[in-house]
Amino acid sequence: MKTLRLTTSEEDIRKAGELIVCGGLIAFPTETVYGLGADALDQEAVRSVYEAKGRPSDNPMIVHIADAMDLEPLVRNGRASISEDALKLIGTFWPGPLTLVFPKAESVPDATTGGLDTVAIRMPSNETAQRFIRAAGRPIAAPSANLSGKPSPTTAADVLEDMDGRIDGVIMGEQCDVGIESTVLDMTGEVPTILRPGLITREWLEAVLGKEVALDKHLLEEPDHLADPGDGVADEEFAPKSPGMKYVHYSPDAKVTLLEGNDYEFRVKATAIGLEARKHGQRVAVIDYGDDVRGAAHRLFADLREFDRQGYDIILIRTLEESGLGFSVMNRMLKSAGYDVK
Ligand code: TXA
Ligand code: MG
Repeated sequence: MKTLRLTTSEEDIRKAGELIVCGGLIAFPTETVYGLGADALDQEAVRSVYEAKGRPSDNPMIVHIADAMDLEPLVRNGRASISEDALKLIGTFWPGPLTLVFPKAESVPDATTGGLDTVAIRMPSNETAQRFIRAAGRPIAAPSANLSGKPSPTTAADVLEDMDGRIDGVIMGEQCDVGIESTVLDMTGEVPTILRPGLITREWLEAVLGKEVALDKHLLEEPDHLADPGDGVADEEFAPKSPGMKYVHYSPDAKVTLLEGNDYEFRVKATAIGLEARKHGQRVAVIDYGDDVRGAAHRLFADLREFDRQGYDIILIRTLEESGLGFSVMNRMLKSAGYDVK
């Protein structure tokens, strides 16, 4: 398959929309990471997304809309299932990097939700993403546009590295601003629960709602059930609410290790590992974002991919303080390191 390089011109966005209507797959920029879009209501199209990504088909996708009015038809019982809390969050954070999980309407195919009876929905703030969704004229199911297991793509070049020849087109937009994926918040229970942390933090959600927001318990423990994403085999016992969490994630080809400690301790550890690695002819890259947490979010995935391109064998990353956005970025760093912290 030839993958079209599409610009953000009127004509190309219209073309991207047409390809979606025909059941095609189009990668597009959002404010978080690039998504791999298909018609969310067309189960054949959605199945081909799993194929292009090499992703197990029980992994549910986020449905993207361009107008808050498009939410209701996707939610079971429509307005009646959209709580006051959900309305507050939509009013505050949409369009933006917050995904909300609702009971799903009949019209949303099982292929989109991985067989769950809930559906995750978000309205991206990225203008190109909005124009693309409107051009398609339907909700867009989109996981991150990477091969399963790889770091999420934050540039069009990253998308092409994984997807060239596997999808119909890529909208060649700008580098993603946020750099890590949206916060996923489950609104179906008694207490809103964060299934995946992102730019919009627990503290921020609690401030808007004026009440407690829970963290899914799988975010607080190190899983010992990591499955290889390629073979789709995951431990039956481990059934987290957000099924995406049970697979190996964000892994570059290089071996990633996180290093804790103050400036001095970090340097000592990095030097010791670097000297040892050099004896074996291995190249070591070192990443220290200091306390620039927003910069870390923006650059982490891009840096992991860049060091792979440059052929490094080992990537050492200094840990961040696990509060606020730092908690969200550390969630990605820990997964990319397979929880290897020294
Ligand atoms: O920022 C983002 O969210 C990006 C851009 C493209 O919008 N998308 C993204 O999609 O990260 P993906 O497929 O890589 O991650 C979706 C996450 C997974 O952890 C999945 O398990 C969870 O959302 N999810 C999707 N539907 C769900 C549902 N019905 N219930 C619980 N979790 C769900
Ligand atoms: Mg992903």
